[in-house]
Amino acid sequence: MSADTTGLPVTLVSGPSFQVQGQDTLLKGALRAGIGFPYECSVGGCGSCKFDLVEGEVHTLWAEAPGLSPRDRHKGKRLACQSVPLGPVTAKLRLDPACEPRIRPLRQSATLTRVEQVTHDMRQFSFRTPGPAEFLAGQYALLQFPALGLQRAYSMSNLPNPQGEWQFIVRRVPQGAGTGHLFDQLQPGDVLEIDGPYGMAWLRPPERDLLCIAGGSGLAPMLSVARAAAPLLQETGRRLHFYFGVRTPADRAAQALLAGLPGYGDRLRCEEVVSQPSADDARQGGWTGATGLVHEVVDARLGERLAEHEVYFAGPPAMVQAVTELLMVRRAVPYGQIHFDRFF
Ligand SMILES: Cc1cc2nc3c(=O)[nH]c(=O)nc-3n(C[C@H](O)[C@H](O)[C@H](O)COP(=O)(O)OP(=O)(O)OC[C@H]3O[C@@H](n4cnc5c(N)ncnc54)[C@H](O)[C@@H]3O)c2cc1C
Ligand code: FES
Repeated sequence: MSADTTGLPVTLVSGPSFQVQGQDTLLKGALRAGIGFPYECSVGGCGSCKFDLVEGEVHTLWAEAPGLSPRDRHKGKRLACQSVPLGPVTAKLRLDPACEPRIRPLRQSATLTRVEQVTHDMRQFSFRTPGPAEFLAGQYALLQFPALGLQRAYSMSNLPNPQGEWQFIVRRVPQGAGTGHLFDQLQPGDVLEIDGPYGMAWLRPPERDLLCIAGGSGLAPMLSVARAAAPLLQETGRRLHFYFGVRTPADRAAQALLAGLPGYGDRLRCEEVVSQPSADDARQGGWTGATGLVHEVVDARLGERLAEHEVYFAGPPAMVQAVTELLMVRRAVPYGQIHFDRFF
């Protein structure tokens, strides 16, 4: 296979060739060409896109990206999501058919149309693109901030639509460059670029009951999955259990956002889990729900039945690690039933 648009040619040892356009990274070039290049985060955090540079030169966007260990660096490994080809390149890696994009990622200009407060530190940002918002529920996009010369990954919380509406629920990170810009600088009418869709934690046809676990800002893709799955629950006879792990009662948002979906309170149930209820909450009778770490509450509720579920989860790497261990080590959930995104 070989793409016929002009750009810099990339040859894969024992794989297809493709072209990389403009300032695209090797990973974006491969995915735009429909190639199953292994990846997860697109932002240098996970290390899934490692490859060997056999021939040619690349510009490295983020030299200290944590996706490469000191051992990887010693062996000369590169990250495809951080490598922009400077000329023809030959690369060596093992392709993964599971990473072949169902929808090839595209870059579109996007106008901010609305900003809504979700909690004290989370807002929903709605953008409009000229073309349709094509993605699978659970996927993410890369928001390019031209004023800052950086990009950040955010998961869509809405459903794909022909009108080109993209919604993101973003948690403000103290001193964060991208979230600082989104929260404090960007105004409705401002334009940036949306590049997507990316990610593998998209909703599969529900062949068993569903479990969604969100930690903090991991809420966005799980909302999208729940929104896509809810109308199917009745006809397929499935259930969806939704767990949202937060630090304090003030961080809760999932029940309010899910309440209008079909089957809510019946086939779709949501439980919010607070890890740090303050003494005041308890004294004032303010928080009477589940406390602790979200994966522990999930295990207490579903235990051995976990292996009967298709499981989707998103959140900070530590939460994703804890949930993965619970599912794979303690509860022997088959890997094919597990779909997650780590928010580096
Ligand atoms: C797949 C995925 C989906 C995500 N979805 C969401 C979501 O729906 N909602 C949400 O609130 N957050 C989400 N995040 C997290 C989000 O992308 C940002 O990391 C977060 O908003 C903090 O960004 P910041 O710029 O404010 O913070 P900063 O502290 O300025 O930057 C944090 C992130 O930027 C990257 N970074 C740091 N330095 C560099 C550098 N020199 N070059 C390149 N990259 C650098 C790293 O990935 C780091 O984690 C997601 C992350 C991933 C990987
Ligand atoms: S996809 Fe490149 S480090 Fe995660």
